[in-house]
Amino acid sequence: MEYIVSLAKRRGFVFPASSIYGGIANTWDYGPLGALMKNNIKNEWIKFFVTSFDDMVLFDSAIFQNAKVWEASGHVDKFNDPLVDCIKCHKRYRADTLLEDTLKISVEGLSCEDMTRLIKDNNVKCPSCKGTLTSVRTFNLMFKTKMGPMADDGEDIYLRPETCQGIFINFSNILKSYRVKVPFGVAQIGKAFRNEITPGNFIFRTLEFEQLEIEYFTHPNDVDKTFTEIMDRVKRWYQYIGIKDENLKFVELSEEERAHYSKKTIDIYFKFPFGFKELQSFANRGDYDLSRHSKFSGEKLEYYDEVSKEKYTPYVIEPSVGLDRLFLALLVNGYREEKVGDNGIRVVLSLSSKIAPFQIAVFPLEVDNKSINLAKKIYEDLKLVYRCTYDEGSSIGKRYRRQDEIGTCKCITVDPNSLDDDSVTIRDRDTMKQDRVKISDLKEYLIKCFT
Ligand code: GAP
Repeated sequence: MEYIVSLAKRRGFVFPASSIYGGIANTWDYGPLGALMKNNIKNEWIKFFVTSFDDMVLFDSAIFQNAKVWEASGHVDKFNDPLVDCIKCHKRYRADTLLEDTLKISVEGLSCEDMTRLIKDNNVKCPSCKGTLTSVRTFNLMFKTKMGPMADDGEDIYLRPETCQGIFINFSNILKSYRVKVPFGVAQIGKAFRNEITPGNFIFRTLEFEQLEIEYFTHPNDVDKTFTEIMDRVKRWYQYIGIKDENLKFVELSEEERAHYSKKTIDIYFKFPFGFKELQSFANRGDYDLSRHSKFSGEKLEYYDEVSKEKYTPYVIEPSVGLDRLFLALLVNGYREEKVGDNGIRVVLSLSSKIAPFQIAVFPLEVDNKSINLAKKIYEDLKLVYRCTYDEGSSIGKRYRRQDEIGTCKCITVDPNSLDDDSVTIRDRDTMKQDRVKISDLKEYLIKCFT
């Protein structure tokens, strides 16, 4: 993990936020390469899940919504974690995690009172300073603020803790305006905010993060079939972006472990350096959200099937993944160090060409005008089709290493012979194999590489 964090900072993927002011805990900024890579993930996700399917539409709802949305969704009452403080050093812990780690027991389904009793009976102390712990109380994870210039009189407003509610409350708008027919899915990418008690592990758990969510509406009788079909799309997505099978694990949650809205959840775990941890959740939300919003808003959120003449509330299958967590998984999945001859260690980021910040780097081997002009011409040409970068600084070995560790798939080198034989050398990031290719055949060669 240290290597990944160091590479991310050194090469401009991810920086600690507000660093010139001493930083702000668990908050990160994406640098030039990180921002490119994050954008590539979003574009590929939309291409894979939305534009390649006729039963999918894209959506983009506001972060702020009427506070009643969060009452209806159950977040005001139920989106809580059990919190405990140390009286001496004032450190805060999630009581359930602390008890499970200390006593090696499951505390699923226990109330705050039960957990307080467990702490007292087992003399559990603050792991940091051995101080006495307070009673356990619930802590709502939503960020709450006031709307309007008069803070005291303003209306309560929440930063959304998940993006999907914007889709549920627009169910009728989407149906009426886009004339979609059940089964269909709505996909959305956007920021979500949670006042986590124990954030950490770099960008794994943060207070501000992006989610890639799909709410797939289906007939209640078809829910099991749809669950399997959509899960199949998700499994193919992970193959498509190059996540290795051995890094994924599918874990069905028990009733006590599931969120309040879920009838069935399979969490997809990824093998992070700190163990297999949740990468994405995949839930059957039933008709929980549409029914609750119908009840709280007074507007019926139902579907009328014109063929069967049946009116019903669809069930929802929801694959939801954090973009930042997926970004970290992709770095971990692709990172490797290998010994190369006597030249020491080579760091390689084996990212899929769909995700890598750059697909191609172009270099002139020697920095004479003729080589530079030809290399720049090739670069300008390829830039129209591929994500390319150009580098003429330092030795060719160093330039290869620089591109390997940021995941650039192919390096194209113009050497003095190129000026005579109209050919260039193309080096592959993963195998380091080199091919000599005519400049006139370059486009055909690259099409084969990137399809
Ligand atoms: N709408 C369903 C939902 O939000 P969730 O399991 O709470 O379900 C879905 O969150 C995904 O969002 C998680 O699997 C994870 O990838 C990401 N996520 C949740 N909390 C996060 C946090 N604090 N930091 C980064 N990613 C987070």
